[in-house]
Amino acid sequence: MDNSVLVLDFGSQYTQLIARRVRELGVYSQIKPCTTPPHSVDLSGVKALILSGGPSSVSDADAPQFDQEWLKLGLPTLGVCYGMQLISVLCGGKLGQGVSREYGFAALEINDPSGLFEGFERGEKTTVWMSHGDHVEELPRGFRVLAHSAGAPIAAIGNESKRMYAIQFHPEVVHTPRGKEMLSNFVLRVAGVTPTWSPANFIESSIEHVRATVGETGNVICGLSGGVDSTVAAVLVGKAIGSRLYCLFVDNGLLRKGESDQVLEKLGAPGIGLNVRRIDAASRFLSELKGVTDPEKKRKIIGRIFIEVFEEEAQKIPRVSHLVQGTLYPDVIESVSVRGPSATIKTHHNVGGLPEKMNLKLIEPFRELFKDEVRRVGRDLSVPQELISRQPFPGPGLAVRVLGEVTDERLRLLRDADAIFMEEVRAEGLYESIWQSFAVLLPIKSVGVMGDGRTYEQAIALRAVYSEDGMTADWVYLPQDLLRRVSSRIINEVKGINRIVLDITSKPPGTIEWE
Ligand code: XMP
Repeated sequence: MDNSVLVLDFGSQYTQLIARRVRELGVYSQIKPCTTPPHSVDLSGVKALILSGGPSSVSDADAPQFDQEWLKLGLPTLGVCYGMQLISVLCGGKLGQGVSREYGFAALEINDPSGLFEGFERGEKTTVWMSHGDHVEELPRGFRVLAHSAGAPIAAIGNESKRMYAIQFHPEVVHTPRGKEMLSNFVLRVAGVTPTWSPANFIESSIEHVRATVGETGNVICGLSGGVDSTVAAVLVGKAIGSRLYCLFVDNGLLRKGESDQVLEKLGAPGIGLNVRRIDAASRFLSELKGVTDPEKKRKIIGRIFIEVFEEEAQKIPRVSHLVQGTLYPDVIESVSVRGPSATIKTHHNVGGLPEKMNLKLIEPFRELFKDEVRRVGRDLSVPQELISRQPFPGPGLAVRVLGEVTDERLRLLRDADAIFMEEVRAEGLYESIWQSFAVLLPIKSVGVMGDGRTYEQAIALRAVYSEDGMTADWVYLPQDLLRRVSSRIINEVKGINRIVLDITSKPPGTIEWE
């Protein structure tokens, strides 16, 4: 890709954030393991290099392998944290250890408001996020100190003539409020990269690519779940090949209240007009789930039946050559890779196994996109906001939120309670800022009193979490009034529920779903 930035990953938990921030500047960025040799990469469009942070120490015996040729390519280079230490050592500087470890917020004082710090004042203090044990003690040859902090007298350095910069802190995290300006200075000013990455360009080139891949004949299928990724992928492919895209929406009977009708109505509406076929397989899923309480068994059954149903339906469509999947960039980045290119690549778990089984080729238009970019693409394709801003929903659906056996009656209790919770979360204006909010039906009964009578009924747990990617999560401190309303409405309106509890577990140690 022309005009791009290459991020070399030394294993920091923030590496993906660096790539996302660069893309927010309108510049395409990709991540490669730090062990990648430069000659194995097509560098023709690469205009700058960023070396990420990482958990190691440069002097560790098992420090990640890094090919020094990278620094001889003449590309403008920015080292972040570990990247700074590496550049310093390789360019003749020295590291010190121990005494001035810094973790968390620090005040960075600018010595030189040029290059990386264009737009700052000399002597100005700005908050940054530090996380380092080692620090640069002796400057590498040809470098000057550009900024310092109390714990790091050499917190930012630069060699203007070589266009090499290095910083001890993390500009990519929100805890460094002006980090984006610094990255922008490096990418757009120092490296002079032209910002050519935008949803519109992406859409145009993807449509062409899909047309070329599929050819003039042949049909394509797509499993729609109602989630953001598969919806936007279907709309994009639909733009490319029209009614030769067949979307299959398997209603497994495990969706939320009114969800199946709502999704179909929106996706089949004029403007989007996808060719969607709904397959009502609820009774098949429920009869196979009868009597099953083990979470893993439930998941396996649901996965298996989904594949069976999908395959049966797909076989009714003639000349199918490709399957669309909403795989995202984080699913395909070779993860950490610090100790060698031993890539663990995550597989897409919802339709896993389908392409091989059905002998289909894959179309994955979002293999290079982050989730927020998929949302922007969706907006540009006029996908309704309700579909784009939807909170994630697990493939096995409400089966993993009805703890214990999944029955029609227990699903009804959960659906009704969940709908009330969602309605109130939306009314409070919180829906879009929360990663997921949902109700869980617990496998217990407890005693209560309503009116003059004793009750002995079921309990609902409320769960709401903030998260960036579902890998870690924090529980949401929901307003007390909202909780009060939700609790009283569920107990009054959902016959069969007499107790509401609140889940205040982060991930880790909890998972987001209860099963
Ligand atoms: P956990 O419960 O593992 O969930 O913390 C992390 C995120 O993944 C979602 N989830 C799934 N998504 N198929 C999916 O597509 C699944 O089988 C599945 N299980 C969990 C969950 O809702 C959360 O966002």
